[in-house]
Amino acid sequence: MKILKSIADVRTFGKVAAGSVGFVPTMGALHQGHLSLVERSRNETDLTIVSIYVNPTQFNNQNDLANYPDTLTLDLQMLEAAGVSAVFMPTYELLYPDNFAYEVDEKQFSRELCGANRPGHFTGVLTVVMKLLNIVKPQKAYFGEKDFQQLSLVKGMVEAFFLETEIIGCPIIREDDGLAMSSRNLNLTSCDRGKSPLFNKLLSNAMLSDEEIQTRLDLAGFEVDYVVTKDGRRFGAVVMGDDAGPVRLIDNVEVVS
Ligand code: PAF
Repeated sequence: MKILKSIADVRTFGKVAAGSVGFVPTMGALHQGHLSLVERSRNETDLTIVSIYVNPTQFNNQNDLANYPDTLTLDLQMLEAAGVSAVFMPTYELLYPDNFAYEVDEKQFSRELCGANRPGHFTGVLTVVMKLLNIVKPQKAYFGEKDFQQLSLVKGMVEAFFLETEIIGCPIIREDDGLAMSSRNLNLTSCDRGKSPLFNKLLSNAMLSDEEIQTRLDLAGFEVDYVVTKDGRRFGAVVMGDDAGPVRLIDNVEVVS
């Protein structure tokens, strides 16, 4: 597995290694959800490139950025064992030579759900994904459906800017108790981890309205950001933990009517 640290490294790697390229962008702290994207890419393309980069421009809360889990040594071992061809590990200076003077902004859906209380979050996501796609130039790029809003905004950006990458959404991978796998789960206290499956359990309860779910989550001690049903899906975001170590969880389920 090659470690690529410059744009020239990535471009040369893509040219020398013949075949189609599948790309999995990540912020590290990898889990089975990421590995499912890698596996899908390995099945559908000749070479899989994974990026590991904790993108500061998508964090509107500096505590969240500072507390983002870092498990790099383990991540690289997992990727090597999963048969990844190369890992791209850029720095801020490499990705943002313009110091974020240029950005990609979506003006509708990015303002809803996770975007409503996290101003600028999706602008940071779309900008870094645009940069990564332009550097790696993959035929296919893989994103998890846990971040369904992110997936749909990335698909929209690719269409709007005529990018040549096919964006592929992959199903949410869950723990046995229903909690959606997420890098942030590593930061849950054991008490919050014990409580956390209730979030998915309530979201999946078709007998309850969004408001009823919100009330039950409040009563159970979750700080609710939103519970919203839209376009056949119920989306939710909650915060667990305290001000010193808040952990944001998101999830979504299909609503069968
Ligand atoms: O989903 C993530 O891990 C990030 O938002 C992404 C797509 C790697 C962009 O930083």
